This record gives sequence, C-alpha cells and structure tokens, in this order.
Amino acid sequence: MIRLKVPATTANLGSGFDTLGMALTLYNIFTVKEILPEGEYTCDIYGEGADELKDARKNMLVTSYIKACNEWNVPIHGFSFESCNAVPLNRGLGSSSTAVVAGVAIANVLSGLNLPEAELLRVMTKIEGHPDNVVPCYIGGMTVSCWDGESLRYVRLPALPDDLNVIAAVPDFEVHTEDARRILPESVPFRDAVFNVSHASILCAAWAMGRWDLLRVGMEDRLHQPHRAKLFPGSTGEKFFSEIANHPDCVATAISGSGPTMIAIVHGLAGKLSQAMCRIFTDGGAASHFFVLNCSSHGTVIES
Ligand code: HSE
Repeated sequence: MIRLKVPATTANLGSGFDTLGMALTLYNIFTVKEILPEGEYTCDIYGEGADELKDARKNMLVTSYIKACNEWNVPIHGFSFESCNAVPLNRGLGSSSTAVVAGVAIANVLSGLNLPEAELLRVMTKIEGHPDNVVPCYIGGMTVSCWDGESLRYVRLPALPDDLNVIAAVPDFEVHTEDARRILPESVPFRDAVFNVSHASILCAAWAMGRWDLLRVGMEDRLHQPHRAKLFPGSTGEKFFSEIANHPDCVATAISGSGPTMIAIVHGLAGKLSQAMCRIFTDGGAASHFFVLNCSSHGTVIES
C-alpha cells in the first residue's frame, strides 16, 4: 500500500508566468492498493472528476507512472488505486499536476530507485511541460523554478505567513490549459517584457524579505492575464482586476494558473472579499464557490 497526500497549487502568481507557484492546503489523496500484472490498471475515483477519470489506463496518474518507468528504464507494474479528489478539474488549481506528481512518486517507490528530489522534479516537469505547478506540489511552499526543456533549477521561498490566507473563487465553467496557452501572443512588446521582469523580481524579493506590502505591485502582469481575462464571461475578468484588486481586504489578486479560478491573498477577515469575488462570477452568469486556504508548507506526503 502506498498513500500519497498531494496538494493543489496556484501557478504564476500574476507576473511569474511558468515560474512561480505555491502549494495550497487542498488535497487529492491517492492510494495504491494492490500490485497487478503488467498492463493491468483499475481505479476507484471519488469526488472531483469521478465520472471523467474512471478509465484507469487513461488516468494521468497511470500515464505519468508509465512515462517515469520508461525514463528510468525500470519494470512497469500494473496496480489498483483509489483517488479521493478535492481539487477541482480544469480550474487552474493544478489537479493534473497532482496526478503527475503521484505517478512519478509511485514509480520511484515501486522501482526501489529512491531517486533524489531534483531528479523526480525533472521528470515531473518534463511530463507536465512547465515547472510552476509540479515543483510546489511536490516540495511545498512557494517556489521559483527555471526550466529550459532539459534542466530544472528551483528555489523554495518561505511559506506565506499564517495570517495571510488565499481565497480561491472557483467558477463552475472549465478552462483547459492548452486553450489558455493557445490564446497567448507569439511575441510581446519589449516594454511589457521589462514590466514583467521587474514586477516578478520585486515579488520574489518582497516574498523572501517578508515585504508583504509589495505583493500587489509584484503580482501585476502584462504577459498573460490581459489575454486570458477574455476567456471569462462578459467583463468578469476586467472586474476582478479593477474591483477585487482595489477591495480594502485584498492584498493581491491573480488568475490561478491558466484559470478560470481567481485567487486573492487576504489579510484578516476573508468573508466580504470571498463574497465579492463570487458575486463578480454571478454577475457574469457563472455559479461559483470559494475556498479559504493557506500555503501548504510540506507539499506531497508519501506513506508506504
Ligand atoms: N504556467 C501555466 C500557465 C500554469 O499559465 O499556462 C498552468 O496551470
């Protein structure tokens, strides 16, 4: 039996496209129950995606497990597993990364290779295509990652303090990451590139030094959010960046990953801000719900 408790993540944090990510206190729990002959996979899925994910052979946990075994040239086992999912699918909270992380970690355990963290993260990133979800998902906290298609470098920053919470407002419509990447431009004006370099740098420096007053400016972005805001119904996207960013309880706001979940970092009482975020979705014609979360500092926990 292998049990993995794997956190949701919020990637980008505005200015840090494909670079910054934070683990959140919302989890999928995967349990490998029994080893089966090669090529045999069965699963029981509970919670989010219970209908969509029930074909075990197509489940990203299994496909990632097989890719990791091939990467390391080790025997590929079959297995039965249970997946208890609290992370909503296709909402920008890293649900696919939880499956990639679990699949690679299971390959590491079942093969007995006991590989170092950096190699596991390299393979997770290779499978996912970008590092900003899988790195914090596996090691926890807030991370800065740099991936050139072959090598991965990463640094973990201090976790968000307990008095700062993360509100995730999750609408009932889905956005697929491929679609949210397809709408991005091939090139951007030089001044916008400079804008993001300076804002992401301020964000990392402020985070490292505990200058939480600079998060709002540090999370401002010109690379992807202005384009992705158009994937939201009506003027929902623009309203988030005008009304929520200026809400008295909001420290900073961003699209979570490739969306459509919106996050806001909040200091103190979270009720009014959570309500205001969901009301913007309601005004745009979308039902929504919210979570009030913290930064998950321990990342993926594995018991075997
Ligand atoms: N950095 C990725 C993107 C995150 O924004 O496309 C996807 O979850």
